[in-house]
Amino acid sequence: MKNESAVSDYEFDMLLKELEGLETQYPQLIDPNSPSKRVGGDVTKKFDTVKHKYPMLSLSNTYSKEEIVEWEERIKKTIESEIEYVCELKYDGVAIGIRYVNGIFHSAVTRGDGTQGELISPNVRTINSIPLKLKAPFPDDFEIRGEIFMPLAAFEQLNLDREKEDLPAFANPRNTASGTLKLQDSGAVSERSLDCFLYGLYQDRSAQSTHYDSVSYAGDMGFKIPRVADNMISKVSNVDGILEFIAYWEEKRKDLPFEIDGIVIKVNSYQQQEELGYTAKSPRWAISFKYKTERVQTLLESVSYQVGRTGAITPVANLTPVYLGGTTVKRASLHNAEQMEKLDLHEGDQVYVEKGGEIIPKIVDVNAGERLPNAKPVVFITSCPACSSILVKEEGEAQHYCCNEKECPPQVKGKIEHFIGRKAMDIDGLGAETIDALVELGFVHNVADLYDLTYEQLLSMDRMADKSARNLLDGLEQSKQVPFEKVLFGLGIRFVGATVSKKLAKAFLTMDAIRSASYVVLVV
Ligand code: IVH
Repeated sequence: MKNESAVSDYEFDMLLKELEGLETQYPQLIDPNSPSKRVGGDVTKKFDTVKHKYPMLSLSNTYSKEEIVEWEERIKKTIESEIEYVCELKYDGVAIGIRYVNGIFHSAVTRGDGTQGELISPNVRTINSIPLKLKAPFPDDFEIRGEIFMPLAAFEQLNLDREKEDLPAFANPRNTASGTLKLQDSGAVSERSLDCFLYGLYQDRSAQSTHYDSVSYAGDMGFKIPRVADNMISKVSNVDGILEFIAYWEEKRKDLPFEIDGIVIKVNSYQQQEELGYTAKSPRWAISFKYKTERVQTLLESVSYQVGRTGAITPVANLTPVYLGGTTVKRASLHNAEQMEKLDLHEGDQVYVEKGGEIIPKIVDVNAGERLPNAKPVVFITSCPACSSILVKEEGEAQHYCCNEKECPPQVKGKIEHFIGRKAMDIDGLGAETIDALVELGFVHNVADLYDLTYEQLLSMDRMADKSARNLLDGLEQSKQVPFEKVLFGLGIRFVGATVSKKLAKAFLTMDAIRSASYVVLVV
């Protein structure tokens, strides 16, 4: 899933603004394929492409409160009557347009390039908060638009599961939601707990005369809409109300169970919206205020190295604790040697930490100006911090590995932890602490040894009561009944995650059958 950006949102927006400025100054140099001519993401080939009935425009955006004041002043110049604004959250996800015919879900299309998008109905149908059948009354044929996102809890759980399967973590909820919607297997989409807030009705004639009433009508039909009681949507009558809403969520957004990247302000009355009209790309009646990604500076105290169950080495930066986006950050992942080199980390550096879309804070830069004169570069280790084996790095791989898989303690313990997990042998009564002790005492060297444990051995352990020992032996006995695919998964073989295990188990039924399979059989 390659939904990553090379630059931050803020940098992207600033570069786009600079480009737009240059294009206004030198119109003769405009490239018809300039990014400024695009409203949104790319149209990929995997799904059918369909034309939008109503173009899917984007919002003009700003990071400056002054520009919000100026926008509101411009609106007042065009509209002489009283103006009401609706302030909403700017959900950080993927835009979607969903058509309903006679109250039944008909189709769902991504924004694509704004004119045409991809038909991803089967994937969108899996999202629980999107009704498949509406509550009456509903218009005969209409489109509703909203933002599909991945709640933070689902994102964190997904990454925990991926970590257990030794798959690389996803960078942030937005890219994960976007990648998920492009999966070919809607079954896999349904497991990803996507959610959706709806923010606009599109139809040829509307029974409602304001945006606010349309949103609440969407709620009556069964759509998930923002809660008024939680101040997630608010009607205000002037710029002070808008600025208050911005300030409220600037502080409170960290408590939301999903990510937002700003707020959206819309003129409420449809008639006034019509009077204000559109530019080529966005409505004049709406604007988004975007929050800057929080970035703080702190001291890099040291770099430590974690050994995963497959032997993969992950460098971790230990930082002087610093408050960022609602939590205190003490550690940040450095991913691998290449990332460390890119940052050109030196001992005692002052580093910049960001927690933008990502849950795991990351070091985005070094304040080289504050580097101590004789600071030494931080050099990636050459031997395993746990067992001292020489580390290896295969060509084309990003990660260094410790190959001492049979004896390196964190690998041995990690493999056993994986083996007993819920998705594998599902053995109760065996936590990380007990595994540590079993390995330290030399009772267990690999997963097979678990099944030779005796009642006497268990009772000889510190803090192991009779009942716990019996429970554990029972759990081990019961685990012999788990389906073959779970055993395969539990072995933690590289590239054999949950999906491959399932396929192998279905095709081969026993370990011996897999062992004697040829390359050709496996590929077919
Ligand atoms: S209104 C004509 N309201 O922001 C514009 N958009 O650049 C109609 N978004 O990807 C969009 N929250 O999906 C609107 N409350 C909200 C929104 C919202 C997020 C997204 C939208 C689009 C981008 C607009």
